Amino acid sequence: MRVYLMGSNPLHLNLIQSTLLAAGRSSQDIQTVTDLPALEAALATQAQAALVLDLGQGEDTSALAWLLEITRRWPALQVVLLSARRDEALLLQAIRSGAREVLDSPPEPADLVQTLERLMPETAPGGKPTAPLAPMLAFIGSKGGNGCTQLASNLAWLLATEFGRDTVLADLDLLWGDASFYLGGGQARHSLDQLAQQGPRLDNQLLQSSLHPVHARLHLLAAPSSPALLRGITPTALARVLTLARQRHQVLVLDLPRQLDELTLQALQLADKVFIVMRHRVPDVRNAQRLMQLLQAQGLASGQMLPLLNRADEPGGLDPVAIDKALPVPVAHRVANDPSALQACVHLGVPLHEQAPGSPVLRDLRLLASQSLGMPLPRRMGWLGRWLGKSSVASPMSTQA
Ligand SMILES: Nc1ncnc2c1ncn2[C@@H]1O[C@H](COP(=O)(O)OP(=O)(O)O)[C@@H](O)[C@H]1O
Ligand SMILES: [Mg+2]
Repeated sequence: MRVYLMGSNPLHLNLIQSTLLAAGRSSQDIQTVTDLPALEAALATQAQAALVLDLGQGEDTSALAWLLEITRRWPALQVVLLSARRDEALLLQAIRSGAREVLDSPPEPADLVQTLERLMPETAPGGKPTAPLAPMLAFIGSKGGNGCTQLASNLAWLLATEFGRDTVLADLDLLWGDASFYLGGGQARHSLDQLAQQGPRLDNQLLQSSLHPVHARLHLLAAPSSPALLRGITPTALARVLTLARQRHQVLVLDLPRQLDELTLQALQLADKVFIVMRHRVPDVRNAQRLMQLLQAQGLASGQMLPLLNRADEPGGLDPVAIDKALPVPVAHRVANDPSALQACVHLGVPLHEQAPGSPVLRDLRLLASQSLGMPLPRRMGWLGRWLGKSSVASPMSTQA
């Protein structure tokens, strides 16, 4: 079904467009309209449609005056308003103008996709509704070495083993990716860059054959094994790979590099939650502040970005109040400092769960998983359960590609 996009902020419109493309809507069905006459002309050709009307800050509501007339003339049109201001007066005005839903401006990608899906369910050619997209959690460091890869890979491990979720860990650090090394499980045969270059041949079968099994429920979409220059991967191709993975699995965890190129930005814009990993040192917090401002300017909603303080109980850091003051959004998660266990993991190439199941880092990651995905905390296993659990994961871990 057709979706019309209207608004004065081109960044927002781009973000919405890539969100809808990544959610599986076809580019022919998404049309940006510049003004009211253009919208009317478009509605005259296709009225079974949705209109996403972005009011930005919500200060100028003059569009609501003509919206009433439009929704009267084309009752099949489903209107979703976007506005940063969502007070009672605006909501009332929106309802009176015939809008079906009011979301934040810019909207959280998952909110927008779900709202449109509810208002106008998209059906595949065979009449089967398109699969809902699995949540996507991204990790990016405010500086290198902050623990981004450790947290992403150990969270993915917990999601697969303790929460029982069919999980994909995508290593988007295409130059220096080391997520596969942190989790063990042998050398991956295929990598994400090869997959993203398959163009129209990319399908579920190709995706599944490119995933490297780390555990029965944990699949790695690996970075190239040796540093390679990005050979012609486009943001759209990356979005297709991620969307396909989100249609087939239950949760996606992304380990992102620090450099903000167009691929990293694409991944960040599509993620439901972006964890900004920092330590409590001045340069980390300063970089986190600048990174968040930059991402906001690229259209990410502030609710999408979650500052994460890693090694939070490390001595001698900045005062928590000062950190919260410096950031556009206060620290959302804290992860404990456990240098000896983490160092041993890096040396041995094993997940933390195998090396130190009692580590406070795992306790904090469990909490983060539960809060981020709305899942109850897993029941803690005793030593016997852990031992049995460990022996049951031993075979997939030793799978050599
Ligand atoms: N919570 C933690 N406690 C102690 N050490 C940690 C913690 N998180 C990460 N580290 C250590 O920090 C180093 C860098 O981690 P890594 O995940 O490779 O960082 P990044 O991916 O951000 O560059 C590793 O040696 C790791 O052991
Ligand atoms: Mg890393």
